[in-house]
Amino acid sequence: MQSAVIIGATSGIGRELAKILSENNYVVGIAGRRTHLLSELQKELPNKSVIKYIDVSSPGDAMSQLKELFSEIGGVDLCIISSGVGFISPDLQWSLEKEVIDVNVSGFAAMANVAMNHFFQRGSGHLVAISSVAAIRGDGDSPSYNASKAFISNYMEGLRKRARKLNLPIVVTDIKPGFVATAMAKGDGLFWVAPLPKAAQQIFNVIKRKKSHAYITKRWRLIGWLLKVIPDFIYDRI
Ligand SMILES: NC(=O)c1ccc[n+]([C@@H]2O[C@H](COP(=O)([O-])OP(=O)(O)OC[C@H]3O[C@@H](n4cnc5c(N)ncnc54)[C@H](OP(=O)(O)O)[C@@H]3O)[C@@H](O)[C@H]2O)c1
Repeated sequence: MQSAVIIGATSGIGRELAKILSENNYVVGIAGRRTHLLSELQKELPNKSVIKYIDVSSPGDAMSQLKELFSEIGGVDLCIISSGVGFISPDLQWSLEKEVIDVNVSGFAAMANVAMNHFFQRGSGHLVAISSVAAIRGDGDSPSYNASKAFISNYMEGLRKRARKLNLPIVVTDIKPGFVATAMAKGDGLFWVAPLPKAAQQIFNVIKRKKSHAYITKRWRLIGWLLKVIPDFIYDRI
């Protein structure tokens, strides 16, 4: 039986992936802050699961707790970092900007560090991070969110290069969703909002194929391409 850990499994994409992985015979470690939601999820899972309280915004504690979870499961093949926060912050409220940086940058990097060192020791593994199409360009309403996702995608590229240099079969997958129907998808002007089961199934297919990158849903590749080619003088006016 394969094993997977999902950080940010209490709701949304992480929760749906936990269900799919368990249905596909994975032992799953499910982590997040709202442990009552993890207990509810555990009752729905058809295979063995282990719950762990992790608040990634306290990186020192979170790293110890993730290591504990890995050893409680007895070695992990797949680690998915789905934890994330995002806020519309037009007045650049520092408390919101800081929370995004704490969770999506420091918290993400701390979790990726533990997972990659685990995989380096084992000689194999698969790290998946849920970044965003937002990683491609900056945004005036949520500058910290887009910048945090750029950090995640760039960091994942670095980890992928490191694994290749060491010639180890460690897969590093950067997932860039557009909009997915979860609590996170807020604000006006949302379009192409993917139903959660469809988005999670596409992510699972990408994991099975051990791809390096994927847009979710697939048609967001077009938006990704457009964002890359639109010149600054047009992008600044959108
Ligand atoms: N939905 C979209 O349209 C969309 C688009 C692009 C990218 N994404 C990304 O997808 C990922 C999952 O988001 P979602 O859409 O599934 O939204 P969600 O339902 O709000 O899920 C966010 C998850 O992050 C966890 N989390 C937040 N702060 C945390 C902390 N300090 N420590 C540990 N876990 C924490 C939450 O768990 P607790 O609060 O229980 O700790 C929850 O499980 C995020 O990284 C998000 O940026 C979403």
